[in-house]
Amino acid sequence: MACNLRSIEAIRADFPFFSANPDWAYLDNSATSQTPRCVAERLNRFLLYEKASPLRGLYDLSIRATEDYEAARAAAASFIHAENASEIIFTRNASESLNLAAFILSSLLSPEDEIIVSIAEHHSNLVPWQEAAARTGAVVKYMECNPEGVFEVSALERLLTERTRILALTHMSNVFGRENDLQSFTEKAHENGVLVVADGCQSVPHIPVNVQTLGVDFLAFSGHKMLAPTGIGVLYGRKALLESLPPYMTGGEMIEYVTTEHTTFAAPPQKYEAGTVNTGDALAFAEAIRYLEHLGFPFMMAREAELTEYLLQGMNSIPHVRIVGGSDPSAHHGIVTFLVDGVHPHDIASIMSDNHIAVRAGHHCAQPLHQHLGIPASTRVSLMFYNTREEISRFLNVLSDVREVMGYGR
Ligand SMILES: Cc1ncc(COP(=O)(O)O)c(C=O)c1O
Repeated sequence: MACNLRSIEAIRADFPFFSANPDWAYLDNSATSQTPRCVAERLNRFLLYEKASPLRGLYDLSIRATEDYEAARAAAASFIHAENASEIIFTRNASESLNLAAFILSSLLSPEDEIIVSIAEHHSNLVPWQEAAARTGAVVKYMECNPEGVFEVSALERLLTERTRILALTHMSNVFGRENDLQSFTEKAHENGVLVVADGCQSVPHIPVNVQTLGVDFLAFSGHKMLAPTGIGVLYGRKALLESLPPYMTGGEMIEYVTTEHTTFAAPPQKYEAGTVNTGDALAFAEAIRYLEHLGFPFMMAREAELTEYLLQGMNSIPHVRIVGGSDPSAHHGIVTFLVDGVHPHDIASIMSDNHIAVRAGHHCAQPLHQHLGIPASTRVSLMFYNTREEISRFLNVLSDVREVMGYGR
C-alpha cells in the first residue's frame, strides 16, 4: 500500500530511528511515536537560526516567532476542526492539559457535586478529578464498561443526578483501543447540564477528530504520540468556557494589566499560557501535523486496520493467548492488549526485549481498569502506520515461544 505513490519503505526512510535501530521492531506507539526528520529539523531550525521570544518583542525576529507560533496553534485547531484557534492552549503534554482542565473546572464545583469518570481512564484523566474532588468536596463516581471495553450511554444515565457537573471520558482507551461513541455521551451529558472533558491522546493521532461534531467541552492530547517532540500538548476548550473560567498558572504573558493591588487577565488562549511558551516544539508539532495530513487519514487508517487484522489473526491462532477487549480487529485501532496464561506480562515484555521487540507491560497507567477487569497487569502492542507485517511476524514468532521459554511444554 502506498501513500501518494510513496512506498512504506520510502515513508520509513523519513524516520531516522528505523535505520538507527534496524534490528528493533518498535511496537509501543501508544506510549510515544517516532519522529520524522522534517519535524526534528523544524525544531533545530528554530533553535539554531530563528530563536526569539514570541509575544514580547517588537523586532522582526520576535514578530516572526509570534506568527509561526500562532500558525502552529491554527494548525492544531484545524487538525481537530476547532471553530477558533483561540480554543487551543499549548501545554507540555496531555497530563498537563487534563490537570489544567480539572483545576479551572474546580471553580464550578461545590461540596456533594458529582464528577463521573470512566473506569477506563488513563490516570491522567482520573487522578486530577480525584484531586479536584478532594479540593472542593465533590464526589467521584465511576462509569463501568463491559469486559470488551464497551461503554453504554445507559451506564451514564444510571449515574446522572442533579448534582452531576462533569463527565471525564476517553475517546479511545489506551488499553482496549476501542473508540467510544463520544458524541452520544456528550449529547446525554449536555441534556443534563454536564460538561464533558475528553481524552483524545489515542484518537487524535489515529482517526479524524472533529470537536464540533463530538460536541465536547474540552479535549486533551499529546504531540509526542503523533510524531512531534515530547514537551508539547494541547488542551482544546470551548471559547465561552475558556473566557469565563479562572486562570491556572499566573505570571508573565497571561495578564492584561497589573497594578500592585490587582491584575486583569489576557483573553484565552494567552490567559492559560503563563510564561515563555514552548515555541520550538510548537513549530515542530505543526510540522508533524503537516506530515500526518500529507499521508492522510484514509491511508493511515487503512494501513493500521490491515496491520491490526494481521496481528490479531496471528495472536488468535496461538494457544494460551487471551486478548483484552475481544478479537474484532475493527475495535482495536492498532492497540492490542493481551495476557498469556501462566506468564507474567513483565516476563513477556522482557522476552520480547531480548528479541529486540518493544512492547509495553504493566497497568498502562490504568490501574482502576485493570482492577475492574480482575487482572493485575497486561502486555500491549500498539501500532502506527509505519509498522510492517514483517515486524508483526517477528512479534508473533516470539509470542508463540513465550510459554516454552518460561518452562511450559509445547
Ligand atoms: C489515553 C491516554 N491519556 C493520557 C496519556 C498521558 O499522556 P502524556 O504522558 O503525554 O501526558 C496517555 C499516555 O500514555 C494516554 O495513552
